[in-house]
Amino acid sequence: MKAIILSGGKGTRLRPLTHTGAKQLVPVANKPILWYGIEDLVSAGIIDIGIIISPETGAEVQAKTGNGERFGANISYILQEQPAGLAHAVKVAQPFLGDSSFIMYLGDNLVQTDLKIFLDEFKLKQLDALTLLCPVANPSAFGVARVDENGRVLQLIEKPKVPPSNLALVGIYLFNTSVHEAIANIQPSARGELEITDAIQYLIDQSRKVEAQKIQGWWLDTGKKDDLLEANRVILDTCLVSANYGDIDAHSQISGRVQIGENTKVINSTIRGPVIIGENCHIENCFIGPYSSIADDATLIHADLEHSVLLQGAKITGIQQRIVDSLIGQRAQIKAAPQRPKALRFMIGDDSQVEVI
Ligand code: DAU
Repeated sequence: MKAIILSGGKGTRLRPLTHTGAKQLVPVANKPILWYGIEDLVSAGIIDIGIIISPETGAEVQAKTGNGERFGANISYILQEQPAGLAHAVKVAQPFLGDSSFIMYLGDNLVQTDLKIFLDEFKLKQLDALTLLCPVANPSAFGVARVDENGRVLQLIEKPKVPPSNLALVGIYLFNTSVHEAIANIQPSARGELEITDAIQYLIDQSRKVEAQKIQGWWLDTGKKDDLLEANRVILDTCLVSANYGDIDAHSQISGRVQIGENTKVINSTIRGPVIIGENCHIENCFIGPYSSIADDATLIHADLEHSVLLQGAKITGIQQRIVDSLIGQRAQIKAAPQRPKALRFMIGDDSQVEVI
């Protein structure tokens, strides 16, 4: 059994964060989203992993993630020249996959589930495809499945206007080699992509064994800001372990689960977990409230922050109001005059959002 993780695509939905970077590398609790998928696969015993990359962000994904040694995996990189669809990515990965069955994992999905259960089911029933489903409130934003009472998939539709059920396709799929024949027989959809849903529908129409299983844990699609903040909240809630490798002075107070990285200085500040702070950060005269993730090299002086994600090298100084529900990009700076500001002055990239509330 092998795996491919799809980390190509355009990444347009987290602009401007992903104008320059891969959305799969955006950190959740200070760890790239992509790495959660790699770790899930390795825990299920799958170590031959191909990562699909795009010409724009592939080098960054590769440099950050490496050859897999740190995960106990063998990682190969597979270049997809165009984001021509999920099924197109499988086509490009065919030389890597050979005649192996495989798991396809979407690199921007965060899923809390034990893949081993689905692997065993897939093997035991000798399925051609196994899809994972999760009930959602907004099925039109996803691929949607109609299933019978035995879990057999009757129909799959990509982003339907009128969804046949509330069961969305989670970004994890198990296939045997029959999917390659299916992909060879489908045409690009109205949005110009070779859709994996169409390939699976082809298998269903050919009476192949296609089943679906509902996942029990949570599933978070991290494509938008609020989804990312929610993912950050859930991961901090469920996975964060307290640890302090930094330097906390006697005037600071730490409560709840808090992780602080090496060379980080905390001076005269209150930190109320769950909170993760990376390495080489400077936190002075601050309140850092629950569900905040602060990446390496960040600086916060006279700042009050809660339920927010700061990326590497971000700097916030002298903001009196509490910063909430915010996502602040790499090296971004927010600063205010020492007195109550009379005016606001901005330099904000394309597609950014600033809310003065
Ligand atoms: O998140 C689950 C949903 O993912 C499913 O419910 C849908 O059925 C499925 O089509 C997919 O929809 P999205 O619109 O969210 O897919 P997106 O374009 O965001 O791509 C998902 C991942 O695959 C992302 O990490 C980028 C990568 N990708 C995407 C395309 C189109 C590639 O590597 N190559 C591609 O050509």
